[in-house]
Amino acid sequence: MLMNNSVKYIQTDDLVKVFRLGNVEVQALRGLSMRVDEGEMVAIVGASGSGKTTLLNILGGITRATAGGTVVAGYDVTNATPIQLVALRREVVGHIFQELNLISTLTAYENVELPMLAAKKPGKDRKKRVEELLTIVGLADRMHHKPDELSGGERQRVAIAAAIANDPKVLLCDEPTGDLDTETGSVIVEYLHKVNKEFGKTIIMVTHDPSIARQCDRIYRIRDGQIISVQAPTADQEMGAASRIDVVRERLEEIKLDIARLDEDAKSGLLEMSDFARQRVKLEERKKLFEEEMHRLGL
Ligand SMILES: Nc1ncnc2c1ncn2[C@@H]1O[C@H](COP(=O)(O)OP(=O)(O)OP(=O)(O)O)[C@@H](O)[C@H]1O
Ligand SMILES: [Mg+2]
Repeated sequence: MLMNNSVKYIQTDDLVKVFRLGNVEVQALRGLSMRVDEGEMVAIVGASGSGKTTLLNILGGITRATAGGTVVAGYDVTNATPIQLVALRREVVGHIFQELNLISTLTAYENVELPMLAAKKPGKDRKKRVEELLTIVGLADRMHHKPDELSGGERQRVAIAAAIANDPKVLLCDEPTGDLDTETGSVIVEYLHKVNKEFGKTIIMVTHDPSIARQCDRIYRIRDGQIISVQAPTADQEMGAASRIDVVRERLEEIKLDIARLDEDAKSGLLEMSDFARQRVKLEERKKLFEEEMHRLGL
């Protein structure tokens, strides 16, 4: 299922994803096209519900698109059989999920070993590799801790180690710094840069943090299931401060709208109190980031 040379390393063409819940249809992606070269590290940004996780799940072979084409590391994902998708997930892509999928009853060591067990790697190689990976992410002294005996940043690093255990070519990261404070977040991003530069992995990272997005080779902005802009760091420098302010201001407005919507949902009893509190804290944190960004731009 390898594609010919004219196709980009990672490429989507007019991706459409429709979710159906009973009679209700949600158009999560509406003709999304993007291109990523081998060895690049790109960021995906966009408001809540804009389709970022859906896109990553299609690239990772978890969700099938309703229409459109997907190529990952030269493999045709669109027409892959279920068995080929399993192989893709096991050997070609590493995936760090928005809700970390570490297994709470397993230690850090065992969580990292798990994908290698699935790929039937011999025991001797596994041990060496798990120790090497946990050392790379700075957790050599936490190998036998379980997830709830680790800090948020440490758990995130276990998830990175597990995602690269089988030496995937492509790493998909869904808000890898999501629930972390800014400082811990930048440590995680440093590790991801290391994985990108030193191990040559292509990385697609969803983030809401503009300073993290700026450290990537390119920034893809999604709105309502479509890419509305692609921004290179050079373009970012050339882009006048005025237009950058517009982008940040617009994003800040989106976040304020998200907050208002959330408050409405809570008032009308659509949300559990604990969910409301968690989402509210997250949005306030985002709002703060963008306000700092406005400040940085001199406003
Ligand atoms: N399994 C599903 N069934 C029905 N609707 C879904 C499903 N998954 C996602 N959606 C809807 O598709 C849209 C895009 O969701 P998605 O999770 O991709 O957004 P996102 O950009 O990752 O948002 P966030 O920043 O909050 O993580 C949303 O409106 C969401 O409600
Ligand atoms: Mg998401």
